[in-house]
Amino acid sequence: MTPARERRRASYGIDSPGTLIGLGTGSLVALGVLIINCDASAGWWISVPFLLTPVVATASFLYTTLRGKRVVWLRELDRLALRGDERALDLGCGRGLVLIALAQRLPEGEATGVDRWRMVDQSGNDAGATRRNAAAEGVGGRIGLVTADMRNLPFDAGSFDVVVSSLAIHNIDTTTGRRAAVTEAFRVTRPGGEIRIADFRHCRDYAAVLAEAGAIAVVTRPLGWRFWYGGPFFATTMVCARKRAGP
Ligand SMILES: C[S@@+](CC[C@H](N)C(=O)[O-])C[C@H]1O[C@@H](n2cnc3c(N)ncnc32)[C@H](O)[C@@H]1O
Repeated sequence: MTPARERRRASYGIDSPGTLIGLGTGSLVALGVLIINCDASAGWWISVPFLLTPVVATASFLYTTLRGKRVVWLRELDRLALRGDERALDLGCGRGLVLIALAQRLPEGEATGVDRWRMVDQSGNDAGATRRNAAAEGVGGRIGLVTADMRNLPFDAGSFDVVVSSLAIHNIDTTTGRRAAVTEAFRVTRPGGEIRIADFRHCRDYAAVLAEAGAIAVVTRPLGWRFWYGGPFFATTMVCARKRAGP
């Protein structure tokens, strides 16, 4: 067997597995109702769109977590046009999908991931899984993992050229906590550095916190259907910002 075939494939898990189980259960119930009632009355087909909604939502959620999120983030990281020697930080890196894609763009740099490894937020979430994924993707020596809370980062101000976060900050359940995380992201970004936060809730608030902190070029933009967690009501938005270079 060649070394490439011997190597394990990276596996990035399922976001919010409890939500997927709920959607999947709803889909099975809806399909059961459809099958049982399909010839019960002349107008049964009127209920079809309602009953198929959980099935479509499940398909959308699965697509996003298994593929769409990665496609969108690869595009977003390419747009950053990194030189390759930057220091990058991923807040709530989980099993490393964005962290590892960053490390692959930083042959002379380093990508650090911070997480609390909560299984409720991502299946099989733990630092060992992230390390194995990094090794499988050929960047094991280029990532650093830190177990910490993103509301209180153990880094000096201005330590990172790029700070990203993917679907992580909404998991903090208070407004004060989420604002603390965004403020920390801004603090550890170096002057002139870039911030990218993708999330499906609270993005306007993140943008306001960054603008209040003094960030420039603060923009929010939708990331499209590939990043819907079940449908357009759970669409992911990207918050982009830069830390002013001068004093
Ligand atoms: C839905 S997962 C997303 C993981 C990864 N960013 C991705 O896109 O694949 C959310 C992650 O945020 C982490 N997380 C939640 N609250 C956190 C906190 N206060 N500090 C650090 N990490 C946190 C969870 O442990 C989980 O790994």
